Amino acid sequence: MSRSAHPAGPRHADVLPEGHYSAPPADLNALDPKVWAHTVSRTDDGVVRVGGIEVTRLAEEFGTPAYFIDEADFRERARAWRTAFGHDADVFYAGKAFLSRAIVRWLHEEGLNLDVCSGGELATALSAGMPADRIAFHGNNKSAVEITAAIESGVGRIVLDSFQEIVRVAHIAQSLGKRQRVQIRVTVGVEAHTHEFIATAHEDQKFGIALADGQAAEAVRRALSLDGLELVGIHSHIGSQIFDMAGFEVAARRVVSLLAAVRDEHGVELPEIDLGGGLGIAYTSDDDPREPHEIAKALGEIVTRECEAAKLRTPRISVEPGRAVVGPTAFTLYEVGTIKPLDGLRTYVSVDGGMSDNIRTALYDAEYSVALVSRTSDAEPMLVRVVGKHCESGDIVVKDAFLPSDLAPGDLIAVPATGAYCRSMASNYNHALRPPVVAVRDGEARVIVRRETEEDLLRLDVG
Ligand code: LLP
Repeated sequence: MSRSAHPAGPRHADVLPEGHYSAPPADLNALDPKVWAHTVSRTDDGVVRVGGIEVTRLAEEFGTPAYFIDEADFRERARAWRTAFGHDADVFYAGKAFLSRAIVRWLHEEGLNLDVCSGGELATALSAGMPADRIAFHGNNKSAVEITAAIESGVGRIVLDSFQEIVRVAHIAQSLGKRQRVQIRVTVGVEAHTHEFIATAHEDQKFGIALADGQAAEAVRRALSLDGLELVGIHSHIGSQIFDMAGFEVAARRVVSLLAAVRDEHGVELPEIDLGGGLGIAYTSDDDPREPHEIAKALGEIVTRECEAAKLRTPRISVEPGRAVVGPTAFTLYEVGTIKPLDGLRTYVSVDGGMSDNIRTALYDAEYSVALVSRTSDAEPMLVRVVGKHCESGDIVVKDAFLPSDLAPGDLIAVPATGAYCRSMASNYNHALRPPVVAVRDGEARVIVRRETEEDLLRLDVG
């Protein structure tokens, strides 16, 4: 799933893996700033610290497994997106990557808007004080209850995903005596170079309305004809963990050509376009992500150029980064439990979490890095597979990596770049208790999502 990942295919568990970890890194103690949060470094005694606190202290106080999020880094990245897009554009953080009330407050303070895709995300956003008009509501099958909650709370926009939804939202808005601002999500027919499960702009999938064969133009016609709706723009999201800007450029071009067609047919210039999220981050040293200012520049230029050519006023652009804001800002801290060397193959290192706190490796063949963080070591590198404690062999956290060969039970290891789609996709498989998220900043650590307890599990079990 990182750029270097091979597409899903046969796995050769019985031979040494090829790929970018076929050679160990020069220095196993080094922490590549590309994959670690900004304030992460090693102290003189070799212990890794984040936000000014040693991981050994964090493990003592909060236990393992746990996610630690570097608040300063999160705010910095949020601000970088905000600044890069300036006042003529909007940045909607995609809450699905990771959402909690603290995150909502940070986003609000840093001037970002929020994209939510469920009633639960909407409730979290509102309860933490995000102004409703800065929220966009997404989803391919929003329930009537969700649509009602969104409209009643006054969300800034609902992104319509289907023909049925155009009618449904219009009807609910009208019955509430409101006119809802909406965008229409289109599929632009771009093949994004990422894992099939997270590519979303080709036509053979569940999201959006196809631009091809006039479907999107028909959706615009219907939306414009309904009193409950104020159609303000067109939305496109082409996928996730993408490095190549070409897909975004084609999407921008096709969305602008729809705007031109709408102007020609209806005499209406829709004022907004949203180009979605999807920008890739570095999970390993081989990944080279784009900076927000490069993305803003590339998108701004292409939209402006296309609009000039079509003699359209340049619409207000918005984007929806999730992973690129939160992904690199957190790591998961684990304690090493059992270690099983397999001669000539690899060493299995079992940690106290697994697929319940990071499903991405099992689900997408995602690549991650790992480091020994409670000390340094000069021992020879050994090829490891970091696995969890769940009852299946696909329970892999890091498929291929190197750790020092003197690794021992009780050592702390950390997997960086787990801020996005890890806690938010965590499960209770095997009745695992989902780990806490702890924010660390300027020498202070505070729990923003607490660890689940057995009482939490039993509270739901009312049979
Ligand atoms: N906007 C829309 C409409 C989306 O569907 C998504 C992600 C985003 C924005 C944010 O995309 P990002 O910037 O985070 O790539 N669970 C998968 C990723 C699924 C993404 C779903 N939609 C993973 O772990 O890789």
